[in-house]
Formats: sequence, structure tokens, C-alpha cells
Amino acid sequence: MWYNNADAAYHQSCTHLGFTHLMMEGIAVCTHRNLSPSHPLFKLLAPHFLFLLAINTRGLQKLINPGGWVDKTTTMGCNGMFEIVKRGVKAWRLDVHAVPAVEIARRGVLDKTVLPYYPYRDDAVAVYEAIEKYVKSMVEHFYDSPEKVEEDGELQSWAAELVKSKKRGGCGIRGVPGNGKFTDVEQIIVTMTAIISTCSLGHAAANFNQYDEYGFPPNYPGILCGQVPTQKVGFTEKNIFDQLPSRSVTLDTMVVTRLLSSRGTQALGDFEVQYLYDPVSVSAAKQLRQDLRSISEAIRKRNQSPHTKFPYPWLDPDGIPNSISI
Ligand SMILES: [Fe+2]
Repeated sequence: MWYNNADAAYHQSCTHLGFTHLMMEGIAVCTHRNLSPSHPLFKLLAPHFLFLLAINTRGLQKLINPGGWVDKTTTMGCNGMFEIVKRGVKAWRLDVHAVPAVEIARRGVLDKTVLPYYPYRDDAVAVYEAIEKYVKSMVEHFYDSPEKVEEDGELQSWAAELVKSKKRGGCGIRGVPGNGKFTDVEQIIVTMTAIISTCSLGHAAANFNQYDEYGFPPNYPGILCGQVPTQKVGFTEKNIFDQLPSRSVTLDTMVVTRLLSSRGTQALGDFEVQYLYDPVSVSAAKQLRQDLRSISEAIRKRNQSPHTKFPYPWLDPDGIPNSISI
């Protein structure tokens, strides 16, 4: 329980809030500052920022405020959470943490012989590749010569502001290909795919299983009382009960994680607002939906199979929203 309590602190601060909600908010603001609404990359990104600033503002007012939900239902509390976010964000790299295959390889579990059943890996990599194919077909169409990349002032100022330090008003993001200046289409494809992937599958994997994990505190306790045990002997059932949160804190945890686990928006590729009208983009989006449908069918088949002991529904594309809106 104490191990999972520490893991929950990291999950809520970094995996969920810091690496999706907050990191993508900076990128959304930077996109609005530098790319005009008629820019093809603005049109490509816009559906994935839907309601993001609204939910972040609401979260700061209701959940991450002094005396609010995080203070009441987590061991780390609000201040602890901000400290963990601060350290995590400093280490975050776009070309690592926003690219599932790279991040998973870094943890040594990309290889199926090392960990045969790891559905997060299999589903995240498949969905990422579908997004990458979609992004690639559009970026290669709009930037069909290296000059078009070099001479696109809006694109280059966007790239520069992504990496510019926070002190100077930028996002201060590390690991952006080209480090502030795009010189080829490959760098643009990686950057765009990483952003869209984080806004969709990255947030879905961190967000929608919150009720399943946190709803029963002994499974994944956001808060525990007392001290971390230092000895393995001498514990009774009462000692364990004494460490669990009170009934009202448990109820508070259940209510909010239930709410955060609900989906109110459309699935990836089924865009709420249409920005893409040219034939290349329209057919790329159609292909994306087709690819996601096949992935969804394969995931459902696996989850329903009698050989699957632990179904993993969280990255079925049908349940991945376009953006971070809860
Ligand atoms: Fe969320």
C-alpha cells in the first residue's frame, strides 16, 4: 500500500497533471501565439487542444487549490504535488516522454520477450503509429521541399518558442527535434505526432482508469495515515485499517476519480470541430479513422479472449478522446 501510495503521487503529479495537462497547455498557448488559424499545422493541432485550457483552469480552482481535493485526499498535498511536478517537468523530454516506444524502451520493457503481456505498450505503440502515418501524409504534402520548411516564419517562430526558456516567456521544452529550428520534415513529423499522441492516448492512459485504481484505497491509496513501516513483522489487520483514510476521505476520492474517469467528448479522429477541408487532409483523416478502427477491433478481440486474464480497455481508440478535456 505504501509503495502504491508513492506511485500514486508520481502518477497524479507527473504522468497525469504535469506531463499531459500542464505540458500541453504551454504548447497550446504557444501554438495560438505563433500559428495563424489558417496555418496547416494549426488546423492539424487545434482539435487536440479542445477544452484543455478550460479544464486546467477548473482543476486549479477546484482540485489543486489550497485546502481543496488534492490537499484532502492525497498524502503529498498540494505543495507536495507542485514540488513533484516541478522536478518531473524539468526532466521531461518531448522526444522521450511523448514517444511511447522510446519511453517504454528506456524502461527496458519494449522487448516482448522481456515482458510478453504488456497491453499498454502494445496498444500505445499501435495508436502512436496510426497518428504518425496521419501526420506524415499531411506534413509531407504541405512541406514538399526543404525551402518550404526553412521559409515558413510562423513554423520557425513556433519551434523557437517551444524551446525558449520559461524565464524568457517560452515553454522551455527539452528534446524538441531541431532544438528551436526545423530543418526537415522528419523533425516536424516527430514533434506533431508527439503532441497529438500526448493529448490523446497519453492522457487517456493516465486519466480514465483513475476510478478503477483509486476507487478502492487499499488497491492504490492516494492517502495513507501514520508512518511508512520499516519492519516486516508484527502487523495486525487493525494496524492496516488504521493506515487507511476515513470514510469521508474515501468517498471524496471515489466521487472525484469517478468524475475524472468519465468521457464527455468524441473519439480520436472523430473531430468535434472540422478544420481540415483540402482533399489530402480529408483523406488522411479518413485513413486515420480506418486504422484506428482496426486497432480497436484487435484490442476488443484480445480483451474478450479467454486467455486474457487482465483485459486492458484503456487504449481502445474508441475510448480515446481527441483532447485533454477532463
Ligand atoms: Fe485528466
